[in-house]
Amino acid sequence: MDVHAEHGKIEEKEYDIGVLGVFESETSDFTSKSLQVVDSALNGAIRDLLESKEFLGKLNTIDILRTKGLLPLKRILLVGLGKKDDFSIERLRQVSGKTAVRTRELNIQEIATTLQEIRLNTTPRDAAQAVVEGSMLGIYQFVELKTTHTEPFSIKKILLLERDIAVIDEIQEGANLGQIIAESTNFTRDLANMPANIATPSYLAAKAEELATNFGLKCNVIDESTAKEIGMNAFLSVAQGSAQPAKFIIIEYQSSNKEILDTIVVVGKAITFDSGGLSLKQRRGLENMKYDKSGGCAVLGLMSAVRQLKLPVHLVGLIPATENLPSGNALKPGDVVKSLSGKTIEIVNTDAEGRLVLADALTYAKKYSPTLVIDLATLTGACRVALGTYASGMMANKQAENFKEILKTAGEKTGERVWELPLWADYSTLIKSDFADIKNVGGREGAAIIAAAFLSKFVEQGIPWIHLDIAGTARSDKKRAYIPKGATGVGVRLIIQFIRDLLGN
Ligand code: BES
Ligand code: MN
Ligand code: ZN
Repeated sequence: MDVHAEHGKIEEKEYDIGVLGVFESETSDFTSKSLQVVDSALNGAIRDLLESKEFLGKLNTIDILRTKGLLPLKRILLVGLGKKDDFSIERLRQVSGKTAVRTRELNIQEIATTLQEIRLNTTPRDAAQAVVEGSMLGIYQFVELKTTHTEPFSIKKILLLERDIAVIDEIQEGANLGQIIAESTNFTRDLANMPANIATPSYLAAKAEELATNFGLKCNVIDESTAKEIGMNAFLSVAQGSAQPAKFIIIEYQSSNKEILDTIVVVGKAITFDSGGLSLKQRRGLENMKYDKSGGCAVLGLMSAVRQLKLPVHLVGLIPATENLPSGNALKPGDVVKSLSGKTIEIVNTDAEGRLVLADALTYAKKYSPTLVIDLATLTGACRVALGTYASGMMANKQAENFKEILKTAGEKTGERVWELPLWADYSTLIKSDFADIKNVGGREGAAIIAAAFLSKFVEQGIPWIHLDIAGTARSDKKRAYIPKGATGVGVRLIIQFIRDLLGN
């Protein structure tokens, strides 16, 4: 995809389609200069349309006008921006997504947009980023496994037409940012959408190694025999019912700036298929359990983005990857395993496997003496029930207090919102075991928090840690403005924004 800022006026350009945004009930002057000029070139056609109430500027609605020789442009695409007071960067991403999808439906491969002109209270850079991000995320399709693909051509070029030459560089900068972030998110979506017969732990490890080679990252994959030597038995216990070898993936980015102080470890749950193990799940919706690797896939997309953006940080990705299947070798309810931390765990339910693989990964994280550990995991159905698909659950230890606010703000900015659930000590009383140091489940009530309470026991004392339960947000069962059905890629944009805000970048 070719994305660039171009200095010029939309009324002078010869393209198949030019995009203009219109606020709801825009009465006096149009907000953007482009809108004013195009309207008068078309003899007030846009104003007529609004007055006739055929097009009201309602959020995400679209109308297309043919210019019939009145302008060098062939068509004008009008997209509704909704009420001015409610406008936000998130809405700019949404209208951009809708616009790009519509353009593709018209078989147009080049889109000239002026949407970044609608800056209101945002910077040109942020506006441009949102337009590119929304467009590229919106037109995402997972077609790799279709042999007869009949969808229209995809968009090859996005031009951000800009009248003000003074902001061209900023717009280009924002556009580049948006492109890297969208491509990384779409990379995560591709991985997460890939079915379990293809996307095995070995496949994810190969993808991580490929990423490392392409971008000059460090990558080390711990195989089962090494994991056993080290003592990662909680991780291995989940893997033992599967014919696919488990992989513990370590991928690392070190900024070339030698003065970097911050090491952030991001842990991603990567259960490439979660059948529940011997505590077998019901058959309904089981096909969606290929998405149980979404946290790990997000970590890979994040590494790719952070490297391309050259953020001044030391970022370590830890991805415990395995299937969770029943077999003659499988983990059994009642089994007790000794985790990497040395703590023994009584397995009451083999379907609470995510916390087992994460436990060893969280223990492993301490060897990097991190400033912060964040984990991303499709951990509990309870979190999806509690928050629905519009927010990820956030739980954190006391040490992470200051980081939580930055993360919440990053969530608002990116539209990948997080909502905090409490992590009071009371919840930990529910996972006391009669047979081991701790047990892996503690009842249905507050199950998302109990899962987090379990994880907290494996985080080294004193290290700030934030847990994100993405069970509700990693997969969407309906198409939204720039979120397709299936894998959403959640976490990538959120954590990039978080790191950028944290570092003041
Ligand atoms: N991967 C699931 C959680 C999940 C459920 C993610 C639905 C996305 C959609 C996890 O491994 C799991 O099975 N959790 C159990 C925990 C329970 C046994 C305490 C659950 O949520 O039912
Ligand atoms: Mn499970
Ligand atoms: Zn799971």
